[in-house]
Amino acid sequence: MFRIKFFFCFIHIGLIITLTKSEFSCLTSSIISCRCNSDESLVTCIENRPSNETFIDWSTFSSGGHRFHLFKFINFTHLTSNTFTNFTSTVLSLGQFEFTFINRIDRVEENTFQILNFYSDTPITLIFESPRNFQLANYAFSRLKYREIVISDIQNDNPPYQLNLKAFDNTQIYQMSISNSPEFHFISNGSSLINITHMKLKNCSLTNIDLLLDTLSTFMLDIDLSSNKLNHIPSFMKLSTLKDIDLSANLFEDVKSNIFTNLTQLNRINLSHNQIKHIAPDAFLGLTQLSTLVLYDNRLTSLETITVHNEVISFLYPLVQTLTTLHLSNNFLHDFKAIRNLSSLNSLQICCNKIKTLDENAFKNVHKLETIDLSSNHIESIHPMAFDGTILIDLDLSSNSFSSLETTKHVIDDHFHSKNQTSSFLDTIQSTLIVLSLENCTNLLELNWFVLTKLRQLTILKLSGIPKTDKFWTLEPRDGSIIDWHGPSFDHRVSLNDIRFDNNDYCLSKPIFQIFNRTTIHVDENHPCNCFIFMMKKKFGAGHHPICLSNQSIVQELTHECVNIDLSCLSLVNSTTIPLTQSSSSSSSMTSTSKETSLTSKLTTMSSSQSSSTIGSTVTVTTGSIKTSSTSSLTTSVTTTTTTTTTNASTTLRTIIMDDGKWKTILAITIPLTAVAIIAAGTSIFIVKRWKKKNPKESFEMLTGFENLLARK
Ligand SMILES: *[C@@H]1O[C@H](CO)[C@@H](O)[C@H](O)[C@H]1NC(C)=O
Ligand SMILES: *[C@@H]1O[C@H](CO)[C@@H](O)[C@H](O)[C@H]1NC(C)=O
Ligand SMILES: *[C@@H]1O[C@H](CO)[C@@H](O)[C@H](O)[C@H]1NC(C)=O
Ligand SMILES: *[C@@H]1O[C@H](CO)[C@@H](O)[C@H](O)[C@H]1NC(C)=O
Ligand SMILES: *[C@@H]1O[C@H](CO)[C@@H](O)[C@H](O)[C@H]1NC(C)=O
Ligand SMILES: *[C@@H]1O[C@H](CO)[C@@H](O)[C@H](O)[C@H]1NC(C)=O
Ligand SMILES: *[C@@H]1O[C@H](CO)[C@@H](O)[C@H](O)[C@H]1NC(C)=O
Ligand SMILES: *[C@@H]1O[C@H](CO)[C@@H](O)[C@H](O)[C@H]1NC(C)=O
Ligand SMILES: *[C@@H]1O[C@H](CO)[C@@H](O)[C@H](O)[C@H]1NC(C)=O
Ligand SMILES: *[C@@H]1O[C@H](CO)[C@@H](O)[C@H](O)[C@H]1NC(C)=O
Ligand SMILES: *[C@@H]1O[C@H](CO)[C@@H](O)[C@H](O)[C@H]1NC(C)=O
Ligand SMILES: *[C@@H]1O[C@H](CO)[C@@H](O)[C@H](O)[C@H]1NC(C)=O
Repeated sequence: MFRIKFFFCFIHIGLIITLTKSEFSCLTSSIISCRCNSDESLVTCIENRPSNETFIDWSTFSSGGHRFHLFKFINFTHLTSNTFTNFTSTVLSLGQFEFTFINRIDRVEENTFQILNFYSDTPITLIFESPRNFQLANYAFSRLKYREIVISDIQNDNPPYQLNLKAFDNTQIYQMSISNSPEFHFISNGSSLINITHMKLKNCSLTNIDLLLDTLSTFMLDIDLSSNKLNHIPSFMKLSTLKDIDLSANLFEDVKSNIFTNLTQLNRINLSHNQIKHIAPDAFLGLTQLSTLVLYDNRLTSLETITVHNEVISFLYPLVQTLTTLHLSNNFLHDFKAIRNLSSLNSLQICCNKIKTLDENAFKNVHKLETIDLSSNHIESIHPMAFDGTILIDLDLSSNSFSSLETTKHVIDDHFHSKNQTSSFLDTIQSTLIVLSLENCTNLLELNWFVLTKLRQLTILKLSGIPKTDKFWTLEPRDGSIIDWHGPSFDHRVSLNDIRFDNNDYCLSKPIFQIFNRTTIHVDENHPCNCFIFMMKKKFGAGHHPICLSNQSIVQELTHECVNIDLSCLSLVNSTTIPLTQSSSSSSSMTSTSKETSLTSKLTTMSSSQSSSTIGSTVTVTTGSIKTSSTSSLTTSVTTTTTTTTTNASTTLRTIIMDDGKWKTILAITIPLTAVAIIAAGTSIFIVKRWKKKNPKESFEMLTGFENLLARK
């Protein structure tokens, strides 16, 4: 043991010795002192005192036999060709060079870097950090080839800064980046030509780049002009090899016709963070390779324009074959009809707009669509066939206003019997969907897990922030189908943050987690402990246990308290088997978004009158479609009431036991004064619930389901 320790100690000392050895003084002149670090092949030269002198004789450079490629000059002000006198006599190429000038470079004279031509094909990188004034003489960069030139944070005593393009005349630069500098203009002392492959000009308060574009040779792959103050899109016509243009965060208000013509290789345009209100229908004409169009954070109210001939035409029409990714988030769009024929579209980001409905065939012909972000819109109804034809993998519907995953339609069958047909917009994508977010859909008053059991690929299900109504754990088969006790085929995660669960939820969710038996659930870290939390503890993923479960005394208490919960659940199950099936038909009659019933919002009571709280009754509200925002706020507040009432576990338990299937009644519930205040003008609400005769077959299957469940225990 001691020997080993000694050994490591020895190695340690050895390391310290080599470390100190690797750094040494390698050049001293009247103006600078350099230290070399052979481990990093780094030479750091610091100015001795403020000076305008430039002459450095590198023949006295003592390399100690090492090769160096990184050179840092700190506080150096003035660069001339004298700065690298005799450089080639003592510095050997290590395959590449990088020179970084930190602070204060004030002037760079003609042919400063000429000597580097000696190394012919060695790639050279020049970095200027926080130069001061930074006056560049003509040919400062000496007609050479550079791998990269980076200029950032130009400090300028008398703005605007003028960058002399003639300094770069006849250079070939693979990558050039100028960023984070105050207002600057380009000037050129005589015409110049620069060959840049990748160009970045970010956050420089540029208002005009025409001179730069004139100077550039025709070959360029991408240009990033983001975060400037450009107010018109310049013409890139000459740069026909461009693949990527970033014009984000400027001041554009419109995109004119044919502005991108001749860019037949262009793959991506980023126009986000502008103030674009209008895009001409021919704006993207000729972009035969464009696959990504980024337009988020603008002021678009429509994707379409009405022409003088009264035709409706969209700026997307030239892109129907090629566009794969379209970002339209954070605009003011009411619809997105114009995307209907984008046959290559794979991903659509359209969050934070003003969309209200998703109609039938909303994604008609968008056969390759896999990802849609429709979050934070005002979606109230989703047609069951809305996503038909797509191969959706990731669907984000969070923060919308729809009230159910299902829609019930009144149909006449072959025998001329009228019947209600319930279906879900998830049905058409059940074989592909992997990620589904319904987070913060505060009007989602009914969640039928039956629909979710059909999503065979489901891996991530986000339900955080949805209201916990009495229909939160609904598991109702529809239209003659039966519950498939297998559910999603993969391990999956269900997030249930921002929801409070009580003991009852354990019983009510049991059949569901029997199906979702490969699930990891997330609840709030600070969720208070109860039997739901305690019994579910194996399902919380590593690092996602509510904090209270780490308190031993709470856990002991719960062990005692929850020991008989399964038994209480049995009685709950025995007594709810019938109501559950019944509500399957009743809910069909309620959750309708179809045209015929869309005008009538129905309020339905689920369980009632057993509560001892001031409210006096437990109310569940299901609305077919919420027409106005006042109605929706009403439903939300009633829901809140529900949640508070149901926290009294035994009450609800009793309530459900009482509801043994014979409530063919009309219930009038008077909301007490407190609720009245919230519900604006409301005084009392009369809630009607119709009870339909249950489908005996269905009920039999439900019973079998529960028997299965009991048998397994
Ligand atoms: C360097 O030269 C500039 C003018 O080119 C002058 O203003 C400054 O005082 C000089 N600095 C030193 C330290 O000589
Ligand atoms: C560079 O100059 C600044 C003042 O202009 C000084 O604060 C800094 O210490 C100097 N850097 C070095 C490494 O000497
Ligand atoms: C260093 O440069 C000076 C001036 O250019 C020159 O006279 C001298 O011969 C050079 N020395 C070596 C070793 O190259
Ligand atoms: C933009 O540049 C200014 C200096 O001109 C700098 O202060 C600011 O931090 C930069 N902004 C970003 C986002 O880098
Ligand atoms: C412009 O170039 C000429 C010669 O080409 C030179 O004499 C003059 O000083 C330059 N002007 C500037 C502002 O660099
Ligand atoms: C510009 O540089 C690229 C490679 O970096 C080269 O292929 C092209 O021929 C150059 N164009 C001109 C006009 O020099
Ligand atoms: C369009 O691109 C071609 C090369 O693809 C080029 O020869 C032509 O000059 C460009 N047109 C304009 C108007 O710049
Ligand atoms: C578009 O530009 C914005 C702002 O500069 C940037 O944050 C974003 O990553 C870019 N988006 C894409 C898809 O390139
Ligand atoms: C269908 O639902 C409506 C209410 O939306 C209801 O009045 C009707 O009785 C139901 N019909 C059947 C056959 O269930
Ligand atoms: C949902 O709401 C919560 C709290 O208001 C918020 O923290 C969260 O980011 C929201 N989630 C989404 C997806 O908007
Ligand atoms: C989940 O349920 C299925 C079907 O009942 C069963 O085959 C499987 O073994 C269960 N898996 C786990 C981890 O309990
Ligand atoms: C539930 O029903 C089963 C038979 O269906 C019965 O054996 C059991 O005793 C009942 N449990 C309770 C608590 O009533």
